[in-house]
Amino acid sequence: MSNIEHKRRGLPKKGIEWSTLRVELEELKGGDFKWREGRVPSYTYFFNDETLRVQKEAYCEFMSENGLGAGRAFPSLSRMIDDIFAIGLELFNAPDGSGASFTSGGTESVFQAVKTARDQARAMREEKFGYYNVVTPLTAHPCLSKVAEILDVTVKRVDLDAERRGDLAALEQAIDEHTIMLYGSAPCYPYGVFDPIADMGRLAQKRQLWLHVDACWGGFISPFAKKLGYPIPEWDFNVPGVTSLSADIHKFGYGAKGASLVLYRDAQVQKYERFEFSDWPRGTYVTPTFMGTKPGGAIAAAWAVMQYLGEEGYLQATRETMDATMRLVQGINKIPGLVCLEPTGEANLVTFVATDPAIDIMAVADRLEKRGWFRGRMREPLGIHQGVNPAHLPVVDDYLSEVSAAVNFVTSRRLSAKYDEHSY
Ligand SMILES: Cc1ncc(COP(=O)(O)O)c(C=O)c1O
Repeated sequence: MSNIEHKRRGLPKKGIEWSTLRVELEELKGGDFKWREGRVPSYTYFFNDETLRVQKEAYCEFMSENGLGAGRAFPSLSRMIDDIFAIGLELFNAPDGSGASFTSGGTESVFQAVKTARDQARAMREEKFGYYNVVTPLTAHPCLSKVAEILDVTVKRVDLDAERRGDLAALEQAIDEHTIMLYGSAPCYPYGVFDPIADMGRLAQKRQLWLHVDACWGGFISPFAKKLGYPIPEWDFNVPGVTSLSADIHKFGYGAKGASLVLYRDAQVQKYERFEFSDWPRGTYVTPTFMGTKPGGAIAAAWAVMQYLGEEGYLQATRETMDATMRLVQGINKIPGLVCLEPTGEANLVTFVATDPAIDIMAVADRLEKRGWFRGRMREPLGIHQGVNPAHLPVVDDYLSEVSAAVNFVTSRRLSAKYDEHSY
């Protein structure tokens, strides 16, 4: 929605002064939605200026170092990764003998879990190429379908129950002899509810399947929300049958972009995770995960922010986030003709829909965007969808007034708008 006219620019003949470019970058940013002011519902995760400063300075300190050389050239990165693993393994109740990998984000973490499960299945079934599938509720993040497509695995998405969690009977029914994995979300991104992970764990054990829990969104918030008394179901390695889980540090771990964890109950399976190639004049090339070069900055920022915040800091960030979420839910539910989808309180994800047919919710979303509030849009049911982070807390009241005003604006003018399929 930038007002800046974009004129495509090639490589200049002569370099431009940094002082000039810096101003240009600031100007470019001027056209973006204001995430620090709570105008962006997802994509950005802002706790406070001090944490952002730690993240930035740590990132810059290790910006040139490369995680590809973590073992030998940069032992500093290995040490930081090891500390990050220790934090993740403890936070998610991993038993002795568990293992972890540091990845660039949720998609890569999910890629690693599916690849590891697939290659283990190939080894156990003594098949070079198997026709495998993953069974999951239809709310699983699209990154699962992306990685499955790349790995030649099929995804079978099944129906939800009345609370929009995966339906256990439907999951069980979808399992066939080609199924290698059950996949649940903690929580799912569309509705912010947890799949029935404990039941799925029992099912996985009964059918001898791998169970991956996608906690990319919730991993670094739900353990703290649980401590604060929110009704968070069991979802981590405390649940028997959970084989692996993914949790993004670059979301509510407040690391810089490019940081996530994938954890395995049994580190032995990581032999299927690694990539190794020797048929090359330069010698053997080994990477623990998909990425080759890995930004050292993302590792250092993750490490520094975790050490800086400590448990106390994460509890505070979570308190602010969940306060904002619940105030948002209560406020929206008070606006005539709007209601938030239930259940709420398990996660910092909110969707509201119109109960009054005179309110076109997409027109409300458009109006809010014109007023500077970038809005996520839900297709089923049509609604406004948003993740919540601490940046939203100071602006909850402003936002609620803006939503009321947008509803009045839309209804008084009888405005309507189409759902934009590409509004993710
Ligand atoms: C539940 C869930 N899984 C996976 C992802 C993908 O994460 P990334 O965008 O870091 O690849 C997301 C992103 O929002 C998510 O919410």
